Amino acid sequence: MFTGHGGTGAAEARALGRPVLDVSASIAPFSPPEAARLAYQRAAADLDRYPPIDGFPLRQSLADSQGLDIDNVLAGGGTTEFIYLIPRTLRPGRVLGFVPTYRDYAEAARLAGCAFVPLLTVWEQRFARDLAKLDAAARAQDLVFLCNPNNPTGDILAPDVIRGFCDRRPDVTVVVDEAYVEFAGIDRSCLDSTMPRNLLVLRSPTKFYAVPGIRLGYCLGRRDLIAALLDAKEPWTVSAPALAVGLALLNYSDYEARVRDVLGREKPALECMLAAIPGLSVCPGAANFLLCRIQADAPPAADLRAACLKQGLLIRDASNFEGLDSRYFRVAVRTGEENIRMARIIRDVLTGPRDSKIACSI
Ligand SMILES: Cc1ncc(COP(=O)(O)O)c(C=O)c1O
Repeated sequence: MFTGHGGTGAAEARALGRPVLDVSASIAPFSPPEAARLAYQRAAADLDRYPPIDGFPLRQSLADSQGLDIDNVLAGGGTTEFIYLIPRTLRPGRVLGFVPTYRDYAEAARLAGCAFVPLLTVWEQRFARDLAKLDAAARAQDLVFLCNPNNPTGDILAPDVIRGFCDRRPDVTVVVDEAYVEFAGIDRSCLDSTMPRNLLVLRSPTKFYAVPGIRLGYCLGRRDLIAALLDAKEPWTVSAPALAVGLALLNYSDYEARVRDVLGREKPALECMLAAIPGLSVCPGAANFLLCRIQADAPPAADLRAACLKQGLLIRDASNFEGLDSRYFRVAVRTGEENIRMARIIRDVLTGPRDSKIACSI
């Protein structure tokens, strides 16, 4: 099993014997919408039956909501299922990705027997991804993963730029992972009814709707690529509760406005509090998390993580992302009070405790 992800707060809290503020997984800081909870409970009535083998009618509803056809949509057990299914099925020459990025792309390439080619982005340019570099590096029959916005840097590419690459390079398959796109604004999605032939888009309710436990994700693209994936896909990977929750979440706009409103205020405030801590720099990004860099003479991220955990805060030591090192960690944006607590603990660990006021607590 592939390890090294964030989101281990429950296990850490059990070991510690008290609650932990888990900012290591970048999940929206709210309970899932009430409609999702009710749908989950109602699905208990279906426990004695198999769900539809392919996620129908969720595939149809999602297709309708996007102006697509059911043949353009797959539903599965999280985008994770598709990250692994796509290279395994398409058997590309190589898999390319700008690093640092989500680590499962390289792992999926390894399991599919493909080389992973990392294209390095750097802190000094705030990890901006230059697709000219990709043009130069990609060969015919390669597959590219573009995480948009990118985890862990928050860098975002405009949909036009990605589509331009797809048009220039029809010999390359492009997978755009939009696990965090709702946080950046849905207009930043590559998804529409005129998708290039070589583009696959991954979407997930996990982060924005705070439903990591349900395991649901989607893969959208042109008919022939989707047909090849459907042919290779395991049956019944969308459970009855996941199906019910997915249907309930489509068109759930009240919650969306609330998340965007709160994070629109809280993210700049958290960024400001963290950037005011001596020895810490923050990479601004388009998603609901912030990548931070500790200055060279301060304790490394692993030590910071251990010390924060003793204070009831779990951060993501980001040193295991290819292209980063022991100075990097990532935190999710939470509610105002939680963000102040988070910034205070990080500050006290890095600089020693002082009066409880934190600079820039706007
Ligand atoms: C960029 C990215 N893609 C995909 C996933 C997996 O999400 P899902 O719950 O949809 O499988 C994650 C989870 O952390 C992620 O960060």
